[in-house]
Amino acid sequence: MNILGIESSCDETAAAVVRDGREVLSNEIFSQADMHAIYGGVVPEIASRNHITVISRLCDEAVKKAGLNKSDIDAIAVTAAPGLIGALLVGVNFAKGAAMALDVPLVPVHHVRGHIAANYLAFPELEPPFLCLAISGGNTAIVDVRGYTDMSIIGSTRDDAAGECFDKAARVLGLPYPGGLPLQNLAEGGDDTAFRLPHAKIDGHPYDMSFSGLKTAVVNTVHNAAQKGEELNRAGLAASFQRAVSETLVPRTMDAARDLCRDVVVVAGGVAANKRIRADFEAACAREGKRLFVPPLKLCGDNAAMIACQGYYEYLSGVRAGQDLNAYATMDIDRVFF
Ligand code: KG4
Repeated sequence: MNILGIESSCDETAAAVVRDGREVLSNEIFSQADMHAIYGGVVPEIASRNHITVISRLCDEAVKKAGLNKSDIDAIAVTAAPGLIGALLVGVNFAKGAAMALDVPLVPVHHVRGHIAANYLAFPELEPPFLCLAISGGNTAIVDVRGYTDMSIIGSTRDDAAGECFDKAARVLGLPYPGGLPLQNLAEGGDDTAFRLPHAKIDGHPYDMSFSGLKTAVVNTVHNAAQKGEELNRAGLAASFQRAVSETLVPRTMDAARDLCRDVVVVAGGVAANKRIRADFEAACAREGKRLFVPPLKLCGDNAAMIACQGYYEYLSGVRAGQDLNAYATMDIDRVFF
């Protein structure tokens, strides 16, 4: 079964064709990051307009690069939540038109379920159940994945997502958007004990997280140094920040895996590209005898192959949408109501 996946929830427009859920035939991505960089973050209206400009061409190219004709497409899978509402609507409406024109089923996909599914593309042997930490620009959650479409949130951030916190910390350090990779580069060689930064804990909710205090601490550290005219140890601050994020994410995920008796730990989403977090997970899983799966870098960030992959499993479980499909800015991964 060939599924055309469409992704437009933020600032990447993407289209991909995946066969039988696991075989990527094409994976086209148009990143708008440069267009938003001068604003220091994604401008929703600009994102929506650029999606409209490229989405049709990108879908054509995805089908062509897969070596297929449009008539070979058996279903369309599209990200319908969560994300920027205007951006999502571009993908959803294009997908509705395409499904109608090709007379094939339309399958709505939850974006974070898609991020988790990126691991099925990278690791053919991976199957649920497993414990997953999903860390992206808009979402941070520890998810118990019981089946391909059966999952529940065990813990999540109470405020900022981990990626958002990376982007804000990077911005105050004078780094370009998106800030995750530049901050990681700055941290290299920096002393991760140079600054004491807060690690928030939420009473009675051992798996929940909070990143806003950490973000404020980085902002205050930078501003205090500037006000006093002191030279800031930027590499040390970046390294200390990464350590604080990792020490928030990794132990909670490992505790949840232990408590739920999950032997397999999976990491997903754009922040899963982070070297420090990857290394800390590798060490923790080796210590505790758990198998670890983290996607290769090209499948960590937003892409449409992951949407087509998850779309396949949603399709198998009977999920279909009609021409009344809407997009939703927010939706819990375990309470999907398309
Ligand atoms: O998954 P993604 O592409 O988009 C969303 O679904 O949100 O994630 C984007 C986020 C951005 O916040 C970006 O700064 C972060 O992933 N990111 C990283 C790294 N590469 C991307 N964060 C930390 N370290 C990285 N190497």
